[in-house]
Amino acid sequence: MESLSRPTLFDFHGVCMTNYFTDNWENVQNFRARPDDIVLASYPKAGNTWVSYILDLLYFGQTSPERQGSVPLHERVPFLEIQMSGYPSGVDVLNELTSFPRIIKTHLPVQFLPKSFWEQNSKIIYVARNAKDSAVSYFHFDRMNKRFMEGKMVFGSWYEHVRGWWEKKQTCSNILYLFYEDLIEDTEQELVRICSFLGLSPTTELKKQVTEKVQFDNMKNNKMVNGSADEVFDLKISPFMRKGRVGDWNNHFTVQQDEQFNEDYKKKMKNTDLQFRTVL
Ligand code: A3P
Repeated sequence: MESLSRPTLFDFHGVCMTNYFTDNWENVQNFRARPDDIVLASYPKAGNTWVSYILDLLYFGQTSPERQGSVPLHERVPFLEIQMSGYPSGVDVLNELTSFPRIIKTHLPVQFLPKSFWEQNSKIIYVARNAKDSAVSYFHFDRMNKRFMEGKMVFGSWYEHVRGWWEKKQTCSNILYLFYEDLIEDTEQELVRICSFLGLSPTTELKKQVTEKVQFDNMKNNKMVNGSADEVFDLKISPFMRKGRVGDWNNHFTVQQDEQFNEDYKKKMKNTDLQFRTVL
C-alpha cells in the first residue's frame, strides 16, 4: 500500500523494533492465553509461514476445507504483536477468533512473550533457521516489504533470538524447537515430530496430503498462503515465497564477507551448544 511509510527503528527494552510491533504493547503483554493455544515463534524469515500452514492443515484441513480456499493464511494464523492503523490489531483478531485451537504467530524474542502463555503452559513451536540464509532472506524481504527500513533488523538480533529461545527450551517442556534445515531435508519426519509434540495422530493419508501441500512450489502457487493476499507486500520487488532453500547465501556472500561473517559468528555464538547447518 502506497500510503504506508517506512517506520523508524528504535531501541525498545534493548531490542530493535518499529512502532507496528510496540504500539499495542500493553494489550500484547496482557494477552490472555489459553492452555490449548499453539504459539508459533521465530525470528523473521525462518519459515514461520511454512509451519503455520502445516499446523493449519493438521488442525483444519479436514474439518474446514472451505477455509483453505477463502481465508488467507495470515488471517487463519494471526500475528500477535502487530498493530497497523486501519487494520484490527493481532490481539483483537485473536480475541475474536472462533476456530479452535488458536494458532498464534509471533516474532517476539523469548523475554517479550506475554507471561500468560507460560502460566497456561501453552504449547510453543519455535522455528530457527541458520544465520546466513536468514540474513539473505531478510534482505530480500526488506526490499519487498515497504514497512521495513534497511539496516538494523526489526525484532533485534538473530543471535539473541535463536539463543534466547534455545535456552528457554532447556527448562520448558512446552517448547518444541524446530530447524528450517531439518524441514527442508525431511518434511515428513518433522511433521511426525510436530504431531507427537501436539498429541496429534493424523492418518497416513492426512500426513501425505499435508506433506504434499506444504512443498515449496505448491505453496508458491497457492494465493491463500503465498503472501499475495496481504496488501502490505509488494511482491513485484521480491516474491514472499522466494527460493525456499538451504545455502542460497552462497550466491550472495563474497568469500571475504563470508570470512568476516564466520569470525563474528564464532564470537557471538561461543557460549552455546546450539548448532546450525548452513548447507545440506
Ligand atoms: P527464502 O527467502 O529463503 O526463500 P517466514 O515465513 O518466517 O517469513 O520465512 C520465509 C522464508 O521461508 C522464505 O525463504 C520462504 O521462501 C521460505 N518458505 C516458505 N514456505 C516454504 C516451503 N514450503 N518450503 C521451503 N521454504 C519455504
